[in-house]
Amino acid sequence: MVTGGATGIGRAIALKLADKGASVMIADINEEAAEKTAAEVRDISGNSATFVTDVTNVAACEGLAQATIENLGSADFLVNNAGVAGSAGWQSRSHSTEEDWKQTYQVNVIGMSNVTSVFKPQMTKRRSGRIVNLASIAGREGRPSLAHYSASKAAVISLTQSTALELARFNITVNAICPGLLWTPMWEQVGDRYAHDNPAFKGMNPREVFDSMIAERIPMQKEQTPEDIADTVAFFVSDDAKNITGQALNVDGGFFMR
Ligand SMILES: NC(=O)c1ccc[n+]([C@@H]2O[C@H](COP(=O)([O-])OP(=O)(O)OC[C@H]3O[C@@H](n4cnc5c(N)ncnc54)[C@H](O)[C@@H]3O)[C@@H](O)[C@H]2O)c1
Repeated sequence: MVTGGATGIGRAIALKLADKGASVMIADINEEAAEKTAAEVRDISGNSATFVTDVTNVAACEGLAQATIENLGSADFLVNNAGVAGSAGWQSRSHSTEEDWKQTYQVNVIGMSNVTSVFKPQMTKRRSGRIVNLASIAGREGRPSLAHYSASKAAVISLTQSTALELARFNITVNAICPGLLWTPMWEQVGDRYAHDNPAFKGMNPREVFDSMIAERIPMQKEQTPEDIADTVAFFVSDDAKNITGQALNVDGGFFMR
């Protein structure tokens, strides 16, 4: 089960899991894109379903858990990937508004907790399961122009540890991934924001901001891709990672070394 599985990183995760033979439930607010990705999954592994879900809505999350059982049997792996970087128009502002704080916490943190809560009973009953949460390198260190987003992703790392401790005795692992810089619709917005409020990027378009960040901040001098993150999810849900829990792994070409 992948939240936000319709586009970007979530889509790559859905396709990678399908490639490993999994049936995939895609939960997203974007129904059209979710259906498109589900069709791609079906071409690879033969089985997929979608459920229009806003992760901030507890009733919708309960419906999602039920629909997963009805359509695909059970959820062996849960990938909490749905995320936002702010409230509408955040990329054109130079400061975090109260709405930005509320929206990022509502989706990135509370939404993650909502979805985890409704899938926990299936996993604890079977005494097996894997949960992977999408954090960010922005959660490793504060970012002045993205304070609300950075803080929400630091909270994701903490939530991952709490959930890992809670579920360890049920043979369920819970880990987080901190992606570095990926050119997705979300980063296009980030680039727009940096061009607005950071003099170093004044006059640049979002892609130029992105390329300049890669050149200056990534020791390996290359961008990360949705497939890099999907490969890491595949590792965390594999048997090779059966004894790893409560960790947050940077996939960032060396940007952060802690
Ligand atoms: N792109 C990056 O550089 C980057 C870096 C670090 C972390 N991340 C994290 O990776 C995850 C995926 O990011 P992305 O770049 O693919 O973003 P994206 O905007 O391309 O995709 C996010 C997906 O989540 C869905 N979504 C948004 N709000 C939702 C909600 N309330 N309920 C259900 N679905 C919802 C969207 O419809 C979309 O399909 C996010 O958690 C993001 O914070 C991204």
